[in-house]
Amino acid sequence: MQSIQERITALKKKRNAIILAHFYQQDEVQEIADFVGDSLELSRIARDCGEQVIVLCGVWFMAGSAKLLSPQKTVLIPNKNAGCPMADMVTPEDVSALRQKHPNAAVVTYVNSSVEVKAISDICCTSSNALKVVASLPNDEIIFVPDKNLGDYVSRFTDKKLILHSGYCPTHQRIFTEHIDIARREHPGAKILVHPECTREIVDAADFVGSTSQIINYATQSDDTEFVIGTEQGILYPLKKKNPNKVFHMLSPHFVCPNMKKTTLEYVLHCLEEMETEIRIDDGLMQAASQSLYKMFAVK
Ligand code: 13P
Ligand code: SF4
Repeated sequence: MQSIQERITALKKKRNAIILAHFYQQDEVQEIADFVGDSLELSRIARDCGEQVIVLCGVWFMAGSAKLLSPQKTVLIPNKNAGCPMADMVTPEDVSALRQKHPNAAVVTYVNSSVEVKAISDICCTSSNALKVVASLPNDEIIFVPDKNLGDYVSRFTDKKLILHSGYCPTHQRIFTEHIDIARREHPGAKILVHPECTREIVDAADFVGSTSQIINYATQSDDTEFVIGTEQGILYPLKKKNPNKVFHMLSPHFVCPNMKKTTLEYVLHCLEEMETEIRIDDGLMQAASQSLYKMFAVK
């Protein structure tokens, strides 16, 4: 009797598929993946990989980006209900209204957004390249959607005027300064590393701010040995795997994204068996939305 992992591996070969997973996925999903990364790295691999089928273990917008960058490939999301509430907070109508109000501004859209919103944006960004993307634009005014926290973080590093949308990540938004106070008290020697989706108060109180990959790299390269992590708890798996002799604590036990946890090994197996759910994007949207991603990749 084959284990579920063995069945997934065999099917993956048969389908000429690659499994990509985000750092917030369940441990066993990360373990079965061919590549685990942050949003930017997952898009890059999806764009460049040779396999004909991409199984994207993450949330919908990540699978959408993979399809935009590899329209000729079959992109599957194991659990079609894995959405991102932040991505749903901004609509194309919101962007059009902001553009009308600020006609000289460029629209920078965080990849945590729908294909429809990407299609009417000037350029996309992720949490790891948002500063560079904003700096690369000639405009003095930037409409930044949907994440008000990432936008606020970026605004500290530029003279440009950022016009922020009101979106946020419910998982990162529910972290308060009390969590930092408790962590500093309970782990006085630890460095606090947080994601820029956290609020300004949390970012101000942290020792390091970065995307998921940047947090992992920081902890791995640091001479410090104890860290408090201010992002989704799935990241503990790669952190501990890369740093078996270092100690990691979570800033809050509630740091869980329910959507990221919707993908299980059973869903991955089913997805490869039935080749579902396939991401399909309207031809009309494909060209415009992929442009905003390609422009992001062109920023050095
Ligand atoms: P990263 O791009 O840093 O992996 O973040 C993705 C995300 O959804 C954070 O909530
Ligand atoms: Fe969306 Fe937040 Fe979950 Fe990231 S952690 S996928 S931003 S809800």
